[in-house]
Amino acid sequence: MSDTSTAQIPFSDFDPFCDEFRDSPESFHDQLLHSSPGYMVMEGEVASAYVAKFDQCMQVLGNWELFSSVKPPNLPGMQRVDFFNGMPVMNYSDPPQHDRLRRVVNVAFSPGRVRQLAEYTDKVVDELLDRLEPNKPFCGMGDVGRPLAVKVLFDEFLGIPPEDQHIFFEFGATFLLLDKLKPGDPKPQAYLDGWKRGEAYLRQVLADAGKNGSENVLSMIASASESGTMSDAEMMAMVCVLFTGGVPTVSAMGASALHYLARYPEIAERIRQDENLAKAFCEEVYRLDSPVTLVMRFATEDVQVGDRVIARGMPVYTMISVANRDPDIYDKPLEFSIDRPGMRHLSFGNGTHVCIGNAITRMIMPKLVVQMARRFPALRLDDSRQGVWETSPRSRHRKEVPLVV
Ligand code: HEM
Repeated sequence: MSDTSTAQIPFSDFDPFCDEFRDSPESFHDQLLHSSPGYMVMEGEVASAYVAKFDQCMQVLGNWELFSSVKPPNLPGMQRVDFFNGMPVMNYSDPPQHDRLRRVVNVAFSPGRVRQLAEYTDKVVDELLDRLEPNKPFCGMGDVGRPLAVKVLFDEFLGIPPEDQHIFFEFGATFLLLDKLKPGDPKPQAYLDGWKRGEAYLRQVLADAGKNGSENVLSMIASASESGTMSDAEMMAMVCVLFTGGVPTVSAMGASALHYLARYPEIAERIRQDENLAKAFCEEVYRLDSPVTLVMRFATEDVQVGDRVIARGMPVYTMISVANRDPDIYDKPLEFSIDRPGMRHLSFGNGTHVCIGNAITRMIMPKLVVQMARRFPALRLDDSRQGVWETSPRSRHRKEVPLVV
């Protein structure tokens, strides 16, 4: 057991990494909501906690001093979530280091920058929808969600040209290998090779970005590196964080948005009548299909959460996607409704680490929804094919969304 005092703790047998939870998270929701906060033993020896109620997740995410984001390097199990090869990144650090890293790219996410990206986004949405043909099946992810995210975030926002992007996609694909690791296992070779390739590539690109005076995010990172604000290691990790944080999540939300638009034609009609409703529609998509399902924190003190104490040192699994269905917050939580008052959810997190890309996402998604609803009133689910989900311990999203217009 870890150094936390656990003698009297009733442990649940819940394991967020188990196949049953990944395959059917909904079947665990009631149990998690009723028992939250609960305790579990991870890796056979690490006393850990989970929180699943909305207010409890808000409490944990809202207090970085009591719930740190710094992953203890020697804690068994951490190798499964060390996507950035042990390097410092903003999402795995606390202030002041977190704030220093976030400041480097913050301006790229400002309202002015997001507005600049909006025009480009309109163009990309138009081009992608131009390719759809009546009665020809297409995939909401492969044909729309993913290319939209890649073009807006990768080509334009980050500034990585299409011919080089495979380096990051190949690296990202190796993350799935990490979640199979047992304590003491070495990192998979494919992951290490992918990291090395990405690192070598970025060193070169960042050196060029510094020279050619371009104004994308890469050049911002390059100048922070030149001025000594960021170390080389931090610079590499930052690019990987922005890529992995943004492209898969926005792709997933695009695919999900089209799924719900096709599934609820009466809501699509309401959006055609009043395009302002697209925002509420998208918030409900984020709530129900949150691609990030859990985030981790580490208790720095004994802390009362709900009716239990989470002991100092415990890893805390904060179950965002369960909290998003908490019946104390949402009336009929499993229903898709664009009329929820307030439209609160935890899909972008809360507190210090609240998603830096949330404004960009909230700019992109309604554009897709409005254009799709306007141009293709006949959009429907393609019942001849099954939708497919892709899950990892921390994420869950639709991988194939069969549709027809
Ligand atoms: C639907 C789209 C997205 C979802 C659901 C999402 C979700 C999240 C969540 C839940 C967090 C909080 C993590 C934590 O508390 O530990 C987060 C943080 C973050 N997100 Fe996003 N994200 C999305 C889009 C983006 C985009 C477009 C980018 C960048 C281009 C991005 C970059 C980041 C970064 C860098 C952080 C860390 C912020 C910090 O630690 O201060 N995300 N995101």
